[in-house]
Amino acid sequence: MTILDRFRLDGRVAIVTGASSGIGRATALALADAGAHVVLAARTEDKLAEVARAIGPRALVCRTDVTQGADLDALVARTLEAHGRIDVLVNVAGGTPPTIALAVSDDDLDAAFRFNVTSAFHLSRACAPHLARRSEGQAGGAIVNISSAMSHRVDSGFVAYGAAKAALDHMTRLLAHEWAPKIRVNAIAVGATKTEALTFVTQMPGVEDGMVAKTPLARLGEPDDIALAALYLASSASAWVTGQVLSVDGGAPTSVWPFPIPSGL
Ligand SMILES: NC(=O)c1ccc[n+]([C@@H]2O[C@H](COP(=O)([O-])OP(=O)(O)OC[C@H]3O[C@@H](n4cnc5c(N)ncnc54)[C@H](OP(=O)(O)O)[C@@H]3O)[C@@H](O)[C@H]2O)c1
Repeated sequence: MTILDRFRLDGRVAIVTGASSGIGRATALALADAGAHVVLAARTEDKLAEVARAIGPRALVCRTDVTQGADLDALVARTLEAHGRIDVLVNVAGGTPPTIALAVSDDDLDAAFRFNVTSAFHLSRACAPHLARRSEGQAGGAIVNISSAMSHRVDSGFVAYGAAKAALDHMTRLLAHEWAPKIRVNAIAVGATKTEALTFVTQMPGVEDGMVAKTPLARLGEPDDIALAALYLASSASAWVTGQVLSVDGGAPTSVWPFPIPSGL
């Protein structure tokens, strides 16, 4: 066995939410490249089918709205029916558009938490008994939560998103403690990464250059930058790592959001 074999996931079964585009798509492809069977979860079946085609026979499409508990339970049931085991869960689906605090209703805040935190918690709880069932000689199960640099940076307009992602970070630490040593739980604090979610911002003239200027590594993230970190945290390469929030953000020390948003006060 070489050191690189520690990154392999042959015979493992991974669920990836938000797998139809961006970071989730890249993560699903990376885990499959490393040998895993990958269950692709999101709402848009034709986009999931395209990802499944790119992966080949080790992909399974499962239409899922992560804000619906019944969908998440069905996702776990479908995975077990197809593969009989779950080794890795990557909670990617999430996000909340920037809105100034004065315009965020209680329902908006609840929705941000449901999408970014409750969904990941529900799926983690449902997968935990299966993730914990590790066989002799194999690393235990792994959960990777996709968080955001905004969980620990400040900027106007991000109270709902940032507070929800901060809760996701601490949920990561708490579950890592409670479920050790059987399940490792880690998160990735993602910086500005070129996915569909960011396109509406970066397509405006000059905007990307301004964001890059605030980023020491002199470019925005690519989905593969995040997928590589997810592969590390999902595989036995990180067997002695749990409860961590790994920043993958080009080294940016502060928010790179390009538009100042007046508070309205
Ligand atoms: N891109 C960035 O700069 C950045 C920065 C920090 C953190 N992040 C985090 O990275 C994660 C992925 O973002 P991304 O940039 O890759 O976004 P994206 O390209 O827009 O992809 C979002 C994915 O989530 C799925 N999704 C959306 N709503 C869903 C729902 N209710 N149930 C199930 N799946 C749903 C989408 O598919 P369907 O619409 O088909 O369901 C899609 O597969 C998010 O948690 C986001 O907060 C991104």
